[in-house]
Parts: sequence; C-alpha cells; structure tokens
Amino acid sequence: MIEFKNVSKKYKNGTHALENVTLKVEDGEFVYIMGPTGSGKSTLIKLLDGEEVPTGGSVIVNGVNVGRLRKSKVYLYRRKIGVVFQDYRLLPEKTVFENVAYALEVLDMPSSKIKKRTREVLKLVDLADKSNAKPRELSGGQQQRVAIARAIAKRPSILIADEPTGNLDPSMTDEMITLLEKINQEEKTTLLVVTHNDVMVEYHPKRTIRIDCGHVVNDGTRNEAFYKHNFSEVKPVSETKETVKEETAVTETAAQEAAVQEAAADEVPVQEAVSEEVAVEELVQQTMIHEAEAESHEDHVPSESEALDQKLNEVAMQQEAIREIREGEQE
Ligand SMILES: Nc1ncnc2c1ncn2[C@@H]1O[C@H](COP(=O)(O)OP(=O)(O)O)[C@@H](O)[C@H]1O
Ligand SMILES: [Mg+2]
Repeated sequence: MIEFKNVSKKYKNGTHALENVTLKVEDGEFVYIMGPTGSGKSTLIKLLDGEEVPTGGSVIVNGVNVGRLRKSKVYLYRRKIGVVFQDYRLLPEKTVFENVAYALEVLDMPSSKIKKRTREVLKLVDLADKSNAKPRELSGGQQQRVAIARAIAKRPSILIADEPTGNLDPSMTDEMITLLEKINQEEKTTLLVVTHNDVMVEYHPKRTIRIDCGHVVNDGTRNEAFYKHNFSEVKPVSETKETVKEETAVTETAAQEAAVQEAAADEVPVQEAVSEEVAVEELVQQTMIHEAEAESHEDHVPSESEALDQKLNEVAMQQEAIREIREGEQE
C-alpha cells in the first residue's frame, strides 16, 4: 500500500512543489494522476521512488518510510518499484533482450531465470519478435514497450509510468493503456499513471487523483466495485493501529506470499525463495525501525536508470547483507 501522510516538498530554491498531500493507494489499484504542468506530479513520483525526500510528512510504501531510508538502502527498496520514464532511457548499444535482461542481471538472478523472465515479459508487451533489435530500429511505441518490459521484469509491486502516452498517436495510446491494464491484472501490479490524456481517461475510466499547485484538488471515481471485490474484508482505517510493528507484520506476510507465487512461477524451492524475499524485506524493515531517527538523505538520489551501473557494485553489498542475516539466523 502507498500512503502519503501530510506530505510537503519544498525544493532548495524555495518552490513548494507539494503541500500537505494525504492519499492512499491500495495494492492492485490502477490510478491516474492528472494535473497541469508544474503542479507537482513528477515530484510525487520522485518521493515514491526515493529520488527526493519530503520536507514534511511521510511517504509510506509497503510499510517502509521511504524518506527515512538510508541512501545506501534506496536501491534495495527500489526492487519493488518499477518506473517507466517518458524518455524511455534505453541503452542504445544493447538489444531489446539485453536491455530487459540487464535490469535482472543487476539483481544477481541466475542466468536461466533471467532468460526465462525476459522472454516472458517481452511476450507480455508483444515484442518477442524484436528481441535482437537495437532500440533505434524500433518505433516510439515499441521503445516505450521495451521500457515497460524492463520496469516490470523484476516483478515490482508498484509500476509508475510518467506520461506513457505523451509521444504516441491516438491508436497507440489505446494499445498502451490496454497493455498497462493487462499488467495490472496479470501481474497484480499496482499502477500509477501520470497523464494529460483526457481521452484515455474517458475511454478507460479509473480512480483519478487531480493535483494543482501542489495540492490534491480531487480524488474521484474510486472504483467502488473494485473496492467491494478486493477489500470487503479489510478493516476500516480507523480500526487499524498504526504501529511500526503491525506494518512490519503485514509486509512480511505480503513478502512471503509474493515469494511463494514467484517460486511457483519459476519452479524454485518455495522455502528458498521465501527466505530470500523475507531477508531482503527484513533488511528494509530494519532500516526503517532502527534508523528511523537517524540520517535522512538530504541530497538528490539518482533515478533508477541513472543508477543502473552503480547497482552492479551495490549488488555485492546486498549479497553480503543477506549473507549476514542468514548467518545470524543460523546462530
Ligand atoms: N529539482 C527542483 N528544484 C527546484 N524546483 C523544482 C525541482 N523540480 C521541480 N521543481 C518545481 O516544482 C514544481 C512542481 O514540478 P513537477 O513536480 O516537475 O511538476 P509536474 O510534473 O506536474 O510538471 C514546479 O514549479 C517545478 O518548477
Ligand atoms: Mg512532470
């Protein structure tokens, strides 16, 4: 779940990009974020993927207080967040297949699993026949779909797309939104789609959060059928105690469930997948609990694609951390 609690963001030059924003997005929702240029949409995304930290309030994603994550732990958190940038940010010298596989290589997945998952997501975005092409040999819409495949390959629980139809003609726009709906349904991914496209919102209506001058001015068309179907058993918010302990428990259960599903899909022994997933999740949780009052990263943190190269090094660190946790468990 995504929760913004009284979030404000004031940039160093004094611009108030967001002011006192409170909103909640449940797992599995598909939400549009709309608003004029400069209203704060990209800032909202940057707060979600840990590129920026709030200057007020808190951003909680799956129980993790994102703004309090140490800079060195942000990449771990981002394993669960996929972002599709408007300018695609593909690696020009790599093939379509390599562009997608690269996002999994930095997670240190075995190569057989990487190949399997890469083929799977390229099929999902209908680009299986372009595996060996270079990005420049593709149309804008196809490049966009490579960027989507790359973002979802690691099975993020949340996919964020900034203006995914910005550069597409109307027929491609419909195809793109249909693809995002398919990802939302088949991969059970929560979707946040920033858009200016009124036509798309009209033909594929969903909950729409409207932002203006840094404020949420409308949060309409909550899909009541969706809520009834998915959350009829869920306690009202007022009954949920907001303690870190409870959030941790919920996240661990979700992580275990996700790992079991992932293991089933990949034919990995369930126990192994669960323990790795939980170990990573625990690492993030520990960061949140023990370092909540410690340093919060002040500076801008590079976005995911800027950070891809850096990740290769960080993977080593991450493995070390997981090893430490496992050794600790065995003792
Ligand atoms: N890094 C930054 N430093 C200073 N001001 C910024 C920065 N990024 C965005 N802004 C300002 O914050 C406001 C919101 O910007 P942004 O979130 O990019 O809006 P949108 O994505 O809706 O166009 C704008 O006034 C913009 O100029
Ligand atoms: Mg923007």
